[in-house]
Amino acid sequence: MKPELTAAFNEQITREFSSSYQYLAMAAWLEARSFPGMAHWMRLQSEEEWAHGMKFYQFVLDRSQVVELGPIPAPDVDFDSPLAVFARSLAAEEAVTAAINDLYALATELRDYASLPLLDWFVNEQVEEEATVSQVIDDLERAEGEGHALLMLDRELGARVGGAG
Ligand SMILES: [Fe+2]
Ligand SMILES: [Fe+2]
Repeated sequence: MKPELTAAFNEQITREFSSSYQYLAMAAWLEARSFPGMAHWMRLQSEEEWAHGMKFYQFVLDRSQVVELGPIPAPDVDFDSPLAVFARSLAAEEAVTAAINDLYALATELRDYASLPLLDWFVNEQVEEEATVSQVIDDLERAEGEGHALLMLDRELGARVGGAG
């Protein structure tokens, strides 16, 4: 693998782990405000991002390259509402999607076709993640100001089952 591409994959590993850390901070914010269902959802999301980081980590190793982990920035910890938490989540996912697209473009430009199946998987994963978070945002907007609707939504999100992938 060309050093330029290895560096880009290593950056993506750090990005996924940073994303995991950010979701954990969101879980903590929600736990503190008594939204246990949403906090549970965020914890699972955090685990999923960790698994994404490990997928890239393993891929770099499988390609006989050296994994180099970068620093993880401090997460955002201040939010105005559950809606603000999920809006921040959508913005983060959109940034990750852009980064995956850049990786795809670089791998293609460098004719590193062995990277494409993994990147295809991530392209699909990002479509799914953006759709899921957008749906929660729509539901939160509809529930705005209605305690009961918010409680039902918290219960619903609390039913999410694990499966880091
Ligand atoms: Fe991810
Ligand atoms: Fe994600």
